[in-house]
Amino acid sequence: MIAILGAGSLGRLWAASLPAHDTAFIPRPGQTPTESVTYRFQALDGTERPVAIPWLASTDRPDLILVTTKAGDTMQAIEGMAAALPVMVPIVLFQNGLGSQQAVAERWPGRPILAASTTEGANRPSPDSVIHAGAGETWVGALTDAGQSHVAPVVERLATSAMTVHAEHHILGRLWQKLVINAGINPFTAILDCPNGDIVTADFFQAHIDDLCTEIAQLMAASGQGGSDAPALRTRIEAVARATADNTSSMRSDMLQGRPTEIDYINGYLVRLGQSLAIPTPVNQMLTERVKQLSPR
Ligand code: PAF
Repeated sequence: MIAILGAGSLGRLWAASLPAHDTAFIPRPGQTPTESVTYRFQALDGTERPVAIPWLASTDRPDLILVTTKAGDTMQAIEGMAAALPVMVPIVLFQNGLGSQQAVAERWPGRPILAASTTEGANRPSPDSVIHAGAGETWVGALTDAGQSHVAPVVERLATSAMTVHAEHHILGRLWQKLVINAGINPFTAILDCPNGDIVTADFFQAHIDDLCTEIAQLMAASGQGGSDAPALRTRIEAVARATADNTSSMRSDMLQGRPTEIDYINGYLVRLGQSLAIPTPVNQMLTERVKQLSPR
């Protein structure tokens, strides 16, 4: 059985897409679970169906854990259940940004900890409905040595969802690529309160994007993630903003719904990395502060 920690849109997408009877949601400590988690699921082709996913019972023995919590909740959520889990059950982290994944791998170095980077699009227009909004791909790789031998079986298991899943030897590089996009789009959409496509012509974006990309390129080079210069990063950020022009970014959406954003694991992560590498990151710092001023955390 696959146990999923985090019943947000991504967790519900995987739960609805994996074979029926193979998934359960893990209740948070202190949470009194109802019989099951029920919602309507809209597939890519527009068809809708009801989904009911049970809560994991104390007698269930999951052989795979997917963690789909927000980055800022991840450590505490795993702390709450790690003691109850056999040490060799693989844990796959689906968080955005960087920082939370490394913290988990450092906290449990002997466990098989894997990370996933996904471009699947899912949103939750109401508490009891989830839409698979866009087909994407998911890459899975090991963060700890103990995770290496689990990559292929986990990929095979996740592929039973009919979503596209690949093994990735350089998962950190893959997470960095997504971080670049999120760092270059999300804070601008949140501060300007606009869909992704509108940022590229905004004065505020134009004024800061080159310096932001220079900071990120320096951090990547100093972290052994080189290969992209600042103009190439800007081109990629603008291409994704245009390709997802009508989308509301996850950060803007968190802000609009009064939820904490993941800024600490996106531009905030880059600020902390810059401090540890003695690389100044004034634009990342300014964006982090502006988003924090506007959001609940
Ligand atoms: O965080 C998001 O919303 C997405 O990663 C992206 C690429 C910015 C598109 O909306």
